[in-house]
Amino acid sequence: MAGSVRVSMTVNGARESAEVEPRLLLVHFLRETLGLTGTHVGCDTSNCGACTVHLNGEAVKSCTLLAAQVDGAEIKTIEGMGQEGALHPMQEAFWANHGLQCGYCTPGMIMAATDLLNRNPDPTEEQVRTALEGNLCRCTGYHNIVRAVLDAAGKGGERESARPPGPPAEDPAAPITQQVGA
Ligand code: FES
Ligand code: FES
Repeated sequence: MAGSVRVSMTVNGARESAEVEPRLLLVHFLRETLGLTGTHVGCDTSNCGACTVHLNGEAVKSCTLLAAQVDGAEIKTIEGMGQEGALHPMQEAFWANHGLQCGYCTPGMIMAATDLLNRNPDPTEEQVRTALEGNLCRCTGYHNIVRAVLDAAGKGGERESARPPGPPAEDPAAPITQQVGA
């Protein structure tokens, strides 16, 4: 590809490499080059947080970075957080506390909230609200999202899933990555 650059990074534990346009945003690299559509685009202008992923362990808005800028980095997306029947504790807490409605903001919320608990395992409600200020939700009014994060903190944020494997397809929690990621 003329004028392209090669970028390589580890995404959800797998080494990925591709020739991309230098102007390609990380969010589009994840969604279109790698097919990881659980990371959403809500605004493309760094306002909504729907595109939040972990870059070397810290939450970032992937629409604010070029793929070429993160060459060599470790990226984690919502697809790397849990699976059907073995949700990440934060996904579990969102499900248990009805922390989502349409689910569009949910992957970014979960990545931002997990980053918070990694830095501060026992946050106050105010600290949760402050940490999620950059993540907008049009549906929930935030109350249940905050409750979910506090719940995950109370569980230590790292417990194994308590749910039985193989949840039914209509289960609202199981498709966190699939239902809202397509
Ligand atoms: Fe990145 Fe909205 S799409 S902040
Ligand atoms: Fe719909 Fe947050 S659940 S935008």
